[in-house]
Amino acid sequence: MSAPQEVEPTATTDLLPIPQPPAAPSTPVNPLAAHPPTASNDLQYDGTEQGQDSDEVDSAYAGSIIQSETSTLDSSILQYREENGRTYHAYGSTEHWGPNDEQAQDQQDLSHHFWTLVLGGDLYSAPIKDPQDVLDVGTGTGIWAIDVADMIPEAVVKGIDLSPIQPAWIPPNLKFEIDDYNKDWVDTNRYDLIHSREILGTVPDWVAFYKKAFNALRPGGWMDSTEPTIYLQSIHTPLEKDHPFVMWPTLFNEIGQKTGITFDVAPNMKKWMEEAGFVNVEEKILRVAVGKWPKDRKQKELGVWNQLRLDTGLRDFTERRMRNVLNWENDEILVLVAKCRSAVSNSKEGLYIDLYHVYGQKPEEKKA
Ligand SMILES: C[S@@+](CC[C@H](N)C(=O)[O-])C[C@H]1O[C@@H](n2cnc3c(N)ncnc32)[C@H](O)[C@@H]1O
Repeated sequence: MSAPQEVEPTATTDLLPIPQPPAAPSTPVNPLAAHPPTASNDLQYDGTEQGQDSDEVDSAYAGSIIQSETSTLDSSILQYREENGRTYHAYGSTEHWGPNDEQAQDQQDLSHHFWTLVLGGDLYSAPIKDPQDVLDVGTGTGIWAIDVADMIPEAVVKGIDLSPIQPAWIPPNLKFEIDDYNKDWVDTNRYDLIHSREILGTVPDWVAFYKKAFNALRPGGWMDSTEPTIYLQSIHTPLEKDHPFVMWPTLFNEIGQKTGITFDVAPNMKKWMEEAGFVNVEEKILRVAVGKWPKDRKQKELGVWNQLRLDTGLRDFTERRMRNVLNWENDEILVLVAKCRSAVSNSKEGLYIDLYHVYGQKPEEKKA
């Protein structure tokens, strides 16, 4: 990676916006048409009262929350930006959309439990057992990296992020660095596994990003990326044009166009990895309910966690970009977020989302 913790005082690229009048999306898309069902798993609706009642969702949350502590960091990295009562990172060449305060950290840790459940307890999909040198880019609270370091004590694990929100008490084989994956990477031919998860809307050029990861991997090493689509759909019928989850991706696509940093990442990762030179690229699409509506018990559990992840995350995903890029007023943002939260809480809607797990390999060196 680039030299960690070297803070350039005003290195932040101004990705923010030419103010535009607040506007509802002019051409609502039908997400079902754009993204026809292709997931490997099937979801069936549970029409019973119990299946549709989502009151018990909160009680499902029992995840542990890591408290963050930092030490010996350049003080400018710790001078967070405050916007509208939330704090955001200070370091980096690009501006991340998400806050880094305790509320956001809790949401990330909760999401980690969800993502691990989705993979049946696995931490990644790439077919590599016991990687020895692992890099997690955009590590957030570092919870994935901590689990990997605990699972493979002989491995050396590194997590990098713009925000110093990782805990101080970590496994001895793990270290965290403040670093920016949108800058040049200095590591070459080093890692067995590079992992990224939920970094949509943060990478201006994904092929360039994957090329950097390619160079940083050893021959035979694997890149493993997990991203959700931005398109929620309903198992019953295509969503109506004025549904908040038709508006939501339309607005995010507008933000992507204005900033040059797309949120519509998941369906393109396979193509981008291949363009960057990876081989044996596989794409697994897992369809997961939002809420407890599925018949299947496992799918129901996933749906509950997915609902909780979205319910607690929708404001974090939305507010900075809507305000700074689309020039929306706070009240307008809160109304949209409230509508989206109401939709994810209504199991009768039968909402679901496709989650993409894509991995690819740097070719092995040819033997002479
Ligand atoms: C939604 S969080 C996901 C965290 C973690 N990957 C997970 O799944 O638990 C995205 C993270 O990417 C980080 N990030 C965004 N842009 C970055 C950049 N250019 N370099 C390093 N980290 C970045 C953010 O600070 C944030 O912690």
